[in-house]
Amino acid sequence: MEMSNLQDLLVDNLKDLYSAEQQLLKALPKVAKKVENEQLRSAIELHLKETQEQARRLEQIFQKFGEKPTGKKCKGMEGLIEENKELMSEDADPDVMDAGLIVGSQKIEHYEIAGYGSAVTFAKLLGDEESARLLAQTLDEEERTDKKLTEIAESSINLEAAEGAGGMEEEGEMRTRSSGRSRSSGGRGKSSSRRR
Ligand SMILES: [Fe+2]
Repeated sequence: MEMSNLQDLLVDNLKDLYSAEQQLLKALPKVAKKVENEQLRSAIELHLKETQEQARRLEQIFQKFGEKPTGKKCKGMEGLIEENKELMSEDADPDVMDAGLIVGSQKIEHYEIAGYGSAVTFAKLLGDEESARLLAQTLDEEERTDKKLTEIAESSINLEAAEGAGGMEEEGEMRTRSSGRSRSSGGRGKSSSRRR
């Protein structure tokens, strides 16, 4: 593909993002199925819906350009999804699996935030306000998803994963902040699960 100006670079970047979204549309349902934490699952399911809309926005932009969004494979996203697949095939404690899948999901969000952030900047520089607005909407969704994942990790999943390894010293204090699922609220005490 010819790459002689910023518009070409924007188109190339958007094709990459379109491929990334298409790959995610296939991958996210598998991740949602694998996670145990309800809050995490509904966050992933919501993001799946957002991802459909994000792909549609890109199609809208390409229509305006008189081009097709297809023809490029996002290798970055392919790699990130592959890493999540590898993790999902491990025999892991469910809390640890959830914590790991949050890491993988946040890597994906950060990748997309970088791509959409640049795309918004390029569209603005090119005076393409309509594309900039559509891309900024997606950027906002990716950033909110990233924040929500951090909140879910910090409020419950990381604590539960740490508990399994006896890694929590201030359990009483931390537990009051946890809004995790009920099965973890009583059963596994620190003393019984402590390795030694
Ligand atoms: Fe996305």
